[in-house]
Amino acid sequence: MAVSDHQMLEAWRHVLTLSKLEAGQVVTILTGASTHPQTLRGAIAAVSSLGAIVNCLDLPPVNGEKALSRDSLSYLGTTPLTGNRAAIAALKESDLVLDLMTLLFSPEQHEILKSGTKILLAVEPPEVLCRILPSMNDRERVMAAAARIEGAKEMHITSPAGTDLRCALGEFPAIREYGFVDEPGRWDHWPSGFALTFPNEGGTQGRIVLDRGDILLPMKSYISDPIELVVKDGYVRSISGGMHADLLKEYMSSFKDPEAYAMSHIGWGLQPLAYWSTLAQYDREATIGMDARAFEGNFLFSMGPNNEGGGERSTTCHIDIPMRHCTVALDGQKVVQDGRVLDAWAKESAGG
Ligand SMILES: [Fe+2]
Repeated sequence: MAVSDHQMLEAWRHVLTLSKLEAGQVVTILTGASTHPQTLRGAIAAVSSLGAIVNCLDLPPVNGEKALSRDSLSYLGTTPLTGNRAAIAALKESDLVLDLMTLLFSPEQHEILKSGTKILLAVEPPEVLCRILPSMNDRERVMAAAARIEGAKEMHITSPAGTDLRCALGEFPAIREYGFVDEPGRWDHWPSGFALTFPNEGGTQGRIVLDRGDILLPMKSYISDPIELVVKDGYVRSISGGMHADLLKEYMSSFKDPEAYAMSHIGWGLQPLAYWSTLAQYDREATIGMDARAFEGNFLFSMGPNNEGGGERSTTCHIDIPMRHCTVALDGQKVVQDGRVLDAWAKESAGG
């Protein structure tokens, strides 16, 4: 169902206030061919209502002819900012960039963040943005989870379907996604609500067994038959199963890049306002699947680049797979059990 312009405006004001936007600051809204007009209207009105200065920068799309999907995360690498010095300069001079286009996994994004500019990505449809409003509680839980990740040497994931995967940790920092940008140089994604990191290069061993109901992204499919992925020295070496395994294999092989099979980010969902079932209600082209990535207690792993975490790998293929019913342990201590987040420690660290 649609939301009103007033609701969209109030949602933006909420997120911009959490992001500590101040009167007189400069905000640039980055738009593209897929930007939702209501999201854009709300952003312009909300930024203006808070006394900040607003610019809009509209850039033509790239890579559409190479991608096998209309999903904005289906083909990474170059972006409309690649080689675009004037646009990069404008974004670096802004206090805040509202990315309604999708710059994720691009070197330009890192360059802009290094200048101190904050970037908030928001490309889900207006009603999803309004439903999954971030909160300070989300921030506390994500921060606590990330602190746990950063103190650990190994993440061990198991599931009743047969998953038994060990990921060595320590080379890369934890990344905190809670849906707003409250510090200079911070990137985040509204909606989100999860903590993640990247395993050490070559440091993942074991197997992942995807079960019925686990989700493939960017395909936005619930799988109906198990898929087994064997992981050795940080790369998925085999993918086997039924029709969904074949779909995944053909899609990944189309990139003709062995780096597509490397382990990318790993972590778990902490967003109680996100739902596993949402994708079943939506047209595939209407969403990028943030409910699936963020629903509480999922184990979210991915294949592809690790440049977002400070690594060297930048492949154009990126697969995200949220799984249900997993148990996740850090150095032997469970943080998710059977798909349920065990964050009594988060409450303790928050003093409540
Ligand atoms: Fe991802």
